[in-house]
Amino acid sequence: MSTIRRTKIADILSAGQASADTLVKGWVRTKRGNKNVTFIALNDGSTIKNLQLVADPNDISEDLLKKVATGACLSAQGELVESQGSGQSVELLVKSLEILGEADPEKYPLQPKKHSLEYLREIAHLRPRTNTFSAVFRIRHAMTYAIHKFFNDKGFYNIHTPIITGSDAEGAGEMFRVTTLDMDNLPKNEEGAIDYKQDFFDKETNLTVSGQLEAELFALSLSQVYTFGPTFRAENSNTTRHLAEFWMIEPEVAFADLNDNMDLAEEMLQYVVKYALDNCADDLDFLHAREVEENKNKKEIDRPSMYLLDRLKFVVENQFERLTYTEAIDILRNSKPNKKKKFQYLIEGWGADLQSEHERYLVEKHFNKPVILTDYPKDIKAFYMRQNDDGNTVAAMDILFPGIGEIVGGSQREERLDKLTQRMEEMDVPAEEMGWFLDTRKFGTTPHSGYGLGFERLILFITGMTNIRDVIPFPRTPGNAEF
Ligand code: 4AD
Ligand code: MG
Repeated sequence: MSTIRRTKIADILSAGQASADTLVKGWVRTKRGNKNVTFIALNDGSTIKNLQLVADPNDISEDLLKKVATGACLSAQGELVESQGSGQSVELLVKSLEILGEADPEKYPLQPKKHSLEYLREIAHLRPRTNTFSAVFRIRHAMTYAIHKFFNDKGFYNIHTPIITGSDAEGAGEMFRVTTLDMDNLPKNEEGAIDYKQDFFDKETNLTVSGQLEAELFALSLSQVYTFGPTFRAENSNTTRHLAEFWMIEPEVAFADLNDNMDLAEEMLQYVVKYALDNCADDLDFLHAREVEENKNKKEIDRPSMYLLDRLKFVVENQFERLTYTEAIDILRNSKPNKKKKFQYLIEGWGADLQSEHERYLVEKHFNKPVILTDYPKDIKAFYMRQNDDGNTVAAMDILFPGIGEIVGGSQREERLDKLTQRMEEMDVPAEEMGWFLDTRKFGTTPHSGYGLGFERLILFITGMTNIRDVIPFPRTPGNAEF
């Protein structure tokens, strides 16, 4: 047969048409059959669906067919015909077959059976070859695109803020050090402390925890900007919601107040969820069915009240609930789990930081929809948030999602120089190192607002996966930086 170009399986299946001469390449998912015919399920990652290859031992040698094993990579050329079996529109009658890469079935870690997510995490280099992970990572790509499209269509500019930084934007001090100093022979200054003047940047530097402060500088010139980059936090939280390296989207808008900020975040979230529903149907159908299957043997009360596709549609079709922190504290204080002491952290009064059990109670039990909480106590929020007239709260907003908890955190920014420097002093933020930030307030300041969306938390929501380690290709968590 002559050499022709490869056709992607997604294109073959969506066209669903017979065709005389077709070449496909991909990885074998399963092989079955008998001595008269072999059926091979082939996947090339372009779709969750497999193409069925039908090989007749009269055309393809037994030696070659022996090497067709789960995990092997092959190239097959033949005739696309209407499928005899159910489950697919067309199948490929193989005329010639080439094994591009063998996979020893005895040693291949991915057997054609269900593996646990924990096991697959250990072989994260091979897990994109499974249905679940290929679906997750195709959706992750689609969400990256949808976010850029959303902001681009609104006239926002994407700003690449630095990854190595000398400032601690959140003031939480959970940063990873960046240095070229020799750890075994650290240079000391006259006081006996480490001499960072001899380090690569002549000072202490870290990986960024947020691009916000730099985004603010650009918002006060380009009006509407956003970042979309990796951020790093050395917090020792080994939870299903935290990564040490995660991706964040941070829009920042001049002339916008907290209400504008909430409107933008809600519109963005509804837009990207709708984008997934419209563009990732096969993958979402698969993940939805997977979730139904996983829950089928559970007791009624342990099952989700809605399954994946219904949860996604619900978010697109319903407005988020908006209320203040103070109102939320009242609800929580009078809630059943608080009165019956079921919360791990009981809500005693105003000022408490909300734990994820509280956030999830509000979203999943009380309101049963996404919630935007605003106007938090200033002492549990960052120095840059705008101080409200009551003297106790700041114009903060957190968006809480079912099954996730906090997905977005943001605020109106303190644009008044005196109030900002006073807050920095109170919170021990070194103003002398942040002259560049304060310059925006000295020269042409204006009200502005922004927020950060945790990208992996969004992907958790869209895919229905329950552990954040399963929605990023190679998770970094305390004690784990494999691959
Ligand atoms: O609430 P955070 O800390 O806010 C900021 O960093 C602000 N500078 C954002 C801004 O206003 N421009 O983080 C924002 C979001 C959280 O709501 C959460 O979704 C996610 O980032 N996030 C994490 N995701 C995964 N792993 C972690 N360790 C995360 N920490 C925060
Ligand atoms: Mg936050």
